[in-house]
Amino acid sequence: MAKSSKISGFYKLSVHERLKVLQEQAELSDEDIEVLSNTGALTLEQADRMIENVVGTTEYPLGVACNFLIDGKEYLVPMAIEEPSVVAAASNMAKIARVKGGFFTSASEPVMIGQIQITDVSDPFFARQAILARKKEIIDLANEQDPVLVKFGGGARDITARVIDSIVGPMVVVHLMVDCRDAMGANAVNTMVEACKPLVEEISGGKVYLRIITNLAKFRVARARAVFDKKTVGGEDAVEGVIKVYALALADPYRCSTHNKGIMNGIDAVTIATCNDFRAVEAGAHSYAAMNGDYKPLTKWEKNKDGDLVGSIELPLAVGTVGGATSVHPVAKVARKILDVKSASELARVMAAVGLAQNLAALRAIATEGIQRGHMGLHARNIAQMAGATGEMIDKVVEVLVKEKNVRVDRAKEVLEELRG
Ligand code: MEV
Repeated sequence: MAKSSKISGFYKLSVHERLKVLQEQAELSDEDIEVLSNTGALTLEQADRMIENVVGTTEYPLGVACNFLIDGKEYLVPMAIEEPSVVAAASNMAKIARVKGGFFTSASEPVMIGQIQITDVSDPFFARQAILARKKEIIDLANEQDPVLVKFGGGARDITARVIDSIVGPMVVVHLMVDCRDAMGANAVNTMVEACKPLVEEISGGKVYLRIITNLAKFRVARARAVFDKKTVGGEDAVEGVIKVYALALADPYRCSTHNKGIMNGIDAVTIATCNDFRAVEAGAHSYAAMNGDYKPLTKWEKNKDGDLVGSIELPLAVGTVGGATSVHPVAKVARKILDVKSASELARVMAAVGLAQNLAALRAIATEGIQRGHMGLHARNIAQMAGATGEMIDKVVEVLVKEKNVRVDRAKEVLEELRG
């Protein structure tokens, strides 16, 4: 337990001063402080400008998924993730997809939605129409806030308005649709809807409280589809198995949650590698999956007339290639170079393809040999290291654990002792 968590002026200190205070308060060793001070490619100074109260950085392994052929273009896909098997699984499925031409993708325009909530309106239906009638004024005011976005071809495009019943009475909710081009768009959209508050209050006669972007970015979706040759994917039974496993996700939210989690393993990893907002991507994906009332899979799996497995995915992907941390983090910048994407929309399409590949890898493993076989070797490596194995001892311990199908730290410790004699 920290001696005290009430540290006045912590935010005003330099990183080194903060580390001193932290060492004292959390009783850290000099080695602990050295671990925190070793920040990798992102310097302490850069990190300190990104968030508050910085005392270090944390690193994820960065892998590169291979074999991705998307719309005829070759992609190497950087993925930052701590979970074993994910990068290998994506690469394997991308390899299978190549047999039938790889992935084919499309995307909507990069349009995000900003919400404005008008409360305390005596005549909400009348107010709704009054707002819609003055749509041009609202859009012009929004666009005045971001001339740069407008110059690059983006900006506020349209509005809608709904009357919603709530526990505090009816309210009018205005949606401002903003084309964010290559930016994720939260800053642009939030600035616009905040600026619209006085005008919207004047028109409606109500009071505006909430004005902020929604992560349910249903107008900013990316899609990917691919045909997976039945023989290469594992034969008729594997195709059948994938569809049956998918059928459960369609019918059952408990399974659907894990089904979508597997998709997000891939999508999050690319989101993090490019330093995009993975919380926004997650929120968007799961709310989209539940948009019609029931929580549904983000992918669809079918069999075509040749008996091949065909998969498709569609989800909102609010990611950017300009602005925010994507343009600051040195590793994210290199990750973008590796990806060689020219726009946020292209990045989103690649991510959708990765999500589809990741999903198939999981479904195929579950439907055939089970998920543990592939996981076991890599999991055993982590366990062996946790037990204290280093260098070539790691492989030796792993071999025994996998053979015994007993991947536990206590057993790894015993094996290590035996091996050390
Ligand atoms: C594990 O991180 C992801 C899976 O559980 C996904 C799935 O079950 O579809 C394997």
